[in-house]
Amino acid sequence: MSKLTKQQVVEYDKTYNQHPWLIGNIDPLAVERAEGIYFYDYDGKRYYDMSCQLSCANIGFGHPEISEAIKKQLDILPYNAPAYATAPKSELAKRIIGLAPDNMAKVFFTCGGSDANEAAINIARTVTGRSKIFSRYRSYHGSTLGAGNLSGDPRRFDLELPAAPGFVKFADPYLYRSGLKFKTPAEASAHYLRLLEEQIVYEGADRIAAIEIETVTGANGVIIPPDGYLQGLRALCDKYGILLICDEVMAGFGRTGTAFAVEHWDVKPDIIAFAKGITSGYIQLGGVIISKQIADFYKDKVFQYGLTYSGHTLACAAGIACLDFYEKYSIFDHVKTLGKVFGKLLEEQKKKHVCIGEVRYIGLFGAIELVKNRENREPLVPYGGDKKGVMKRIFGLLRERGFATYGRENNINICPPLIITEQELRSAFEILDSVLSIVDSEL
Ligand SMILES: Cc1ncc(COP(=O)(O)O)c(C=O)c1O
Repeated sequence: MSKLTKQQVVEYDKTYNQHPWLIGNIDPLAVERAEGIYFYDYDGKRYYDMSCQLSCANIGFGHPEISEAIKKQLDILPYNAPAYATAPKSELAKRIIGLAPDNMAKVFFTCGGSDANEAAINIARTVTGRSKIFSRYRSYHGSTLGAGNLSGDPRRFDLELPAAPGFVKFADPYLYRSGLKFKTPAEASAHYLRLLEEQIVYEGADRIAAIEIETVTGANGVIIPPDGYLQGLRALCDKYGILLICDEVMAGFGRTGTAFAVEHWDVKPDIIAFAKGITSGYIQLGGVIISKQIADFYKDKVFQYGLTYSGHTLACAAGIACLDFYEKYSIFDHVKTLGKVFGKLLEEQKKKHVCIGEVRYIGLFGAIELVKNRENREPLVPYGGDKKGVMKRIFGLLRERGFATYGRENNINICPPLIITEQELRSAFEILDSVLSIVDSEL
């Protein structure tokens, strides 16, 4: 175990670690330990982990049943090359298929979300013999070359030097910023699907391998599809022989109150990408779930994709332990119930604070969209351009007061550990409330 002092942790980190997505010389907060819904710095200060780190530590930390399962597997067999069968990999795949929509047949394990999406792209192109992949602007699918080009948010820009060919973006059903007034969710869905169909035709429908979406957009501000959208998307894909890929890296494993978010709309994708909540961050693991049709395609064809750590034995053991935990403590039901309180708390904040334009939530997956002006909906910071660090300061104010989270653009994302109690949630919201009052006063 490392014996570094707090000062050494910070100094070595600044000297030797390159942090992702941040400008070179940051002053990192040194974290010493975590327990339940909290983590602690070296001065013993406690933080509500209101984003579950990167929306992955779904069950929080310090659970002996997870540690024990990992330790046991470590002694028996920590790792085996992917061609072998191991008990953890076999059991975990079977259980994931048991949780997935009933058209799903097999799991291919990866190390995280980006490589799950690389696999999804590869599979879609191989199975259809087509090249183009459609995805949306307000999306994040990872940062490896394919997943980075699949992503829509500005993090893709440096991966487009030059852009990988075959990636086409389309507009999200982001109603708050549509500029249009829809009478019903069905009307909104029809509008966005009509625009998409036009684009499919213009791009050559028979050249499009897949449409990939985040079932519920995560990092880019928890954008929830209007009812009818996903069903309509499925129908469009069927009409043109296009595969539907749902990225549930963030939305899966209980975040929205169900195993997979597609359940809310009863839609059956061809591929589901997952990661994060499958092991709750205890060990890295991701994967894709493929339909019976796709699995049949590979019966007599080589699956041309692989990773040394695909189906990592220890990671799969952690996955089984997490699924056991979700089941034993009825976590998905807890999310459904507490999600109602969470929604009310967010709505109360919206009533109280003029800096809030909209709140969006499903299960324990929420975002607060901040505006300068409620009437014209001007965002608190321009898209892709928070040059003055306005949002960074707000996240700093929250963290100083013990509420740790993140967000992109003008959104504060709130994705608490799924084990959080109502009392804990209410206490954390008191901190949020105090910081939003500061933002109000500065408008
Ligand atoms: C929806 C979604 N897909 C893919 C990824 C990439 O996953 P990873 O960071 O594990 O590569 C993320 C990461 O935040 C994500 O939110």
